[in-house]
Amino acid sequence: MLVTSPILPDFDDFVEKLKTIWNTRQLTNNGPFVREFEEALAKYLHVPFVSVMANGTLPLMLALKAAGINEGEVITTPYTFVATVSVLKWLGLTPVFADVDPVTGTLSPHEVERMITPRTRAILPVHVYGYPCDVAGFHRLSLRYHLPVIYDAAHAFGVKLDGHSVLEWGDLSTLSFHATKVFNTIEGGAVICHTPEMKHRLDTMRNFGITGETSLDGIGINAKLDELRAAYGLLNLRKVDEAIDARARLWNAYTLALKSVPGLRLPSLADSVDYNYSHYPIYVEAESPRTRDEIFALLKTHDIHPRRYFFPAIHQFETYADVRRSGNLPIASRLSEQVICLPLYPHLPLSTPEKIASILR
Ligand SMILES: Cc1ncc(COP(=O)(O)O)c(C=O)c1O
Repeated sequence: MLVTSPILPDFDDFVEKLKTIWNTRQLTNNGPFVREFEEALAKYLHVPFVSVMANGTLPLMLALKAAGINEGEVITTPYTFVATVSVLKWLGLTPVFADVDPVTGTLSPHEVERMITPRTRAILPVHVYGYPCDVAGFHRLSLRYHLPVIYDAAHAFGVKLDGHSVLEWGDLSTLSFHATKVFNTIEGGAVICHTPEMKHRLDTMRNFGITGETSLDGIGINAKLDELRAAYGLLNLRKVDEAIDARARLWNAYTLALKSVPGLRLPSLADSVDYNYSHYPIYVEAESPRTRDEIFALLKTHDIHPRRYFFPAIHQFETYADVRRSGNLPIASRLSEQVICLPLYPHLPLSTPEKIASILR
């Protein structure tokens, strides 16, 4: 049993879409399925504009470029997937690490403020596990220091805060539709933006900067999603509500079952949030009779394969050892040494949480 397993569209429905593509032979280049998919996503997510892309890493790169961040420092979190930070290096920007909130693991605005210098150009927080960041706190920082905030919302598909999409916050947000995510197009992703001008800029940038047969607008790249995966995405969108409901049932079953296991901190939920239940992270505390790595190894002997997301934290990799940081990032370091994400996907048997709890007991 792996930590995740993807939702898939109905096979026959997908074959029907493929027949259309086989007839038209339009495989890519902003075709009808990409355009339809973008409209369907904007409607589903309650956001004004979506620019879909070939994976969830390119949206981070294009969002930073489109926001005009061409040099200087970007303050981000070390408690994330490596792509959040590697894109900064890839773009020639300088990552700076600030510490995270001890409960949610999301970047702390207070810690970010301590790291702002005249070289700071943007803030890049991550809605880790779909937990909304302190978006009001980042909004205040953005106004006070005139810094754009770009959210890596790779985990936050469909998440709402106070009844509104969490993707409404910040200058831009990016999504991943990787096969491991709540909603997938196999590989895929998107930038969420708030104006038609920004949508146009992103759409141009993802297609080499081409604006006409003989014209370019700036330096672009190839970040296009193809028609097959857009069609697949349109069909998978029909499945996602049901998938989130099933995730919620499993999530609650985990909390019920694991309450009686000593030494674990379980994830909590806030009333103001509609979650997507993208991960079930448990934190193995000092009082636990077994260490985190002993629990990890024990579950593997039962053919249960959880993941230590995010371990190592990014500042613990040699590649990022030189990144300027707030102190020694004690909270990110601790969470990364305590965390295990348990298997969670819609078709996981509802008996699994109790099975795992009984192994741990
Ligand atoms: C937080 C975060 N950011 C960015 C990415 C990159 O997305 P992709 O794998 O679709 O390129 C991922 C995951 O895969 C992620 O978890």
